[in-house]
This record gives sequence, C-alpha cells and structure tokens, in this order.
Amino acid sequence: MSPFELTRTLPEDATGAALRADVTEGLTAVPKTLPPKWFYDARGSELFDEITRLPEYYPTRAEREILVDRSPEIAAATGARTLVELGSGSSDKTRHLLAALTGLHSYVPVDVSESALTGAARTLLADHPELHVRALVADFTAALTLPATPGPRLVAFLGGTVGNLLPRERASFLASVRALLAPGDAFLLGTDLVKDPAVLVRAYDDAAGVTAEFNKNVLRVLARELDADADPADFDHVALWDPEREWIEMRLRARSAVTLKFPQLGIAVPFEKGEEVRTEVSAKFRAEGVRAELATAGLELTHWWTDAAGRFALSLSVPSPSGITG
Ligand code: AVJ
Repeated sequence: MSPFELTRTLPEDATGAALRADVTEGLTAVPKTLPPKWFYDARGSELFDEITRLPEYYPTRAEREILVDRSPEIAAATGARTLVELGSGSSDKTRHLLAALTGLHSYVPVDVSESALTGAARTLLADHPELHVRALVADFTAALTLPATPGPRLVAFLGGTVGNLLPRERASFLASVRALLAPGDAFLLGTDLVKDPAVLVRAYDDAAGVTAEFNKNVLRVLARELDADADPADFDHVALWDPEREWIEMRLRARSAVTLKFPQLGIAVPFEKGEEVRTEVSAKFRAEGVRAELATAGLELTHWWTDAAGRFALSLSVPSPSGITG
C-alpha cells in the first residue's frame, strides 16, 4: 500500500450547498450571524497564517511551546500507534508530536481542504518516510468513520478551534469525539484560556489590521461564491469581549445603510447604518470548565499542561470507565 492515501467523505458540492444554507439561515436571522468556517478560502488561510505570526496573537506560539515541552510526556502517556488530527490544516505544529511519538504507525489528518491535506502529507512524508498517512477530506463537526489503523489512537484537536463552537455544538462535538475512542485511546485538546480582556481584544484587533482583513475576507468569499455584491469597504471590523459568556466575538459593522443582494439565493439582506453581523465566537476556557465539559461527554481529564505564562492549555483525556456521566 502506498504511504499516502486520501479518502473524500464530503460530496464534491457539499461545500457550496452548506455555504448557501448557512448564508440563507444566518443572514435572515436576528441578530445576523455567519459561521467562521467560511473565512478559510486560499486567501483567508494565508491571512490566518499571517495572524499566527502577529505580536498580539499569542495562542499559536503558546501552544507550540507546550507541544515542544510536553510531546515526550504525551507520547509516554498514550503510546499512540495512530494519531488522528481533526482540522489538521498545514499540520505545522503536529511535527513536534510526530517526532516524539516513536511507535507511531499511522497519521490520519482530517480537514475540509484537500489541498492542505496533500501539501501537509508531502512535507511530513519527507521527514517520516515510514509513516502511513491516511488523509480524510471531511468536516470534523460531522460524524466520522476512521480508517482501520492500529491502536492505541490519539485524537488531537489543536489551536483552540474548539472555541469556535457554541456551547451546544461543543457538547455534541465532544460526544462525537468520545464515540471515536476505544479503551486505551486518548484525546488531546487545545484551549485558549481566560485572561486580561485587553490582551484578548488586542489578539483579535491587531495594530497592523491583519485580523480586520481576515474578518472582511468572508465578504470576498460571498462575492465570489454566491455573486453577492458584498464590498469589504462597506464594513468595519469589530472585536469585543463578552464577560458573561467568556468569549471573543468578531463582527462586521455596516459603515452606512447597505443591502447585500444574493441573486443565486433570491434574497436581499438589508443592514442599517451601524448594524452588525457576528462572524466568529472564540471562547476562552478555565481548567474546571474544560474538565466538566469533557466529563459530560464521557471523557476523564488525566493531564493539564499550560505554557509558562499560563495563556493556553493542552489537556489529555481518556474514555471514562463509567461511561457517559455528568
Ligand atoms: C483558528 C479558530 C483558533 O479563534 O483564535 C484568529 C481563528 N480568528 N483570529 C481563533 C481566529 C481571529 C482562531 N482559530
């Protein structure tokens, strides 16, 4: 068998159909919302890469610090022979895990972007020619069927992307992760932590304006994919901290009254001057909260590691012996 195999579980037009449904539902709702996954076309992915190098955006560096320091412990605790990575993207930070997981047989990157998967596999196979890469083009928020690879399995979800899910979506996501695990398997989760709101807001409203461009990129996606007359110049970037829900919200605020027309969808979406559409929620966590959410999904937290400055955490959890509890 060749060292690289790619399985597509998303129908070719799944993306277009999902975009049309999300836009119709989100932009006719009160208040208006759009799911953050539509930021990530080629340009959006490049802008996100640029964000990870900004002085204000600490999560990527903090998580990499933990992976560099703790990958040997993660390897010893799990003995993983298969690493499954949900939302693997460029697999950049994964290199530290792969280097430490000496008994690894298979790497199963899961991403909606086929080009990201093939690019990442090429880079990784150059360093690990023995590794079996079984890439899966799939939406990690939907039910997954994993390839038959040797256990134990380590399922990883890095970057703090779990914070993009709303609390109810998070609960069902964690339950579906739990359903992938057999006894002896483990789950590695990256979560950004609650901290000084000024630090958080700066991370999502950088001085160079890269995050603003990233946020407005969703309008370019709507214009290109749906022939919408969405113009980034008509909107301002907004990032704010919600102290009750402990999450950052990104919004786009209409600079003046404007109507977005979607000829393909047969809808027109009016904005009053100053009206906003929520484009992303990025939840921040506390140790007790992560432990409780994992427990509700039937996962028992066994390890909690943070960077030296305590900004970001990686947690390791295993299936609870008593099954799903609260
Ligand atoms: C890729 C989801 C982890 O929420 O911090 C970065 C995306 N949004 N700047 C995050 C993002 C604005 C990022 N995640």
